[in-house]
Amino acid sequence: MTRKEQYEQLTTQIVGLIKDETNLIGILANVSAALHEAFPERFFWVGFYLQAHGNMLRLGPFQGSVACYTIPYGKGVCGKAWEEGHTLIVPDVETFPGHIACSSLSRSEIVVPMYDDTHTFRGVLDIDSTRLNDFDEDDKEGLGHIIDLLMEETQDLFL
Ligand code: SME
Repeated sequence: MTRKEQYEQLTTQIVGLIKDETNLIGILANVSAALHEAFPERFFWVGFYLQAHGNMLRLGPFQGSVACYTIPYGKGVCGKAWEEGHTLIVPDVETFPGHIACSSLSRSEIVVPMYDDTHTFRGVLDIDSTRLNDFDEDDKEGLGHIIDLLMEETQDLFL
């Protein structure tokens, strides 16, 4: 199966998982689990950082090893994706200035910012891989589409 086809399958699964559900924490937990299970050999850490007071991102539901609780605006790959307002792919985390290393196993990373329909920033989806240069345009497109669907379904559940 190609990566595109894997994302098509995964998207169908995720649509089923989030439809008619109102428990935001549960939804985000299940979406991170579905992503983690879909690419077990690639996705070492999958999770959400959600916007909190004081221009901070706060750790949300995730799959993987323990992670830092907060990330300031503009810091790390997550804070940078928030600042820049678009998806960031980091092929080699060691060459990204200010990368926040939660695990030495992480080699490459993708961060997708999340917005509601008033363009208000809500948080990010963060995925780490143990492989160098593991994320491509198919990941960016597939994950971007999943985040669009997720935000359509859950935006009223964010506080
Ligand atoms: N590497 C991220 C921090 C979060 S961990 O990867 C789970 C960053 O630089 O923002």
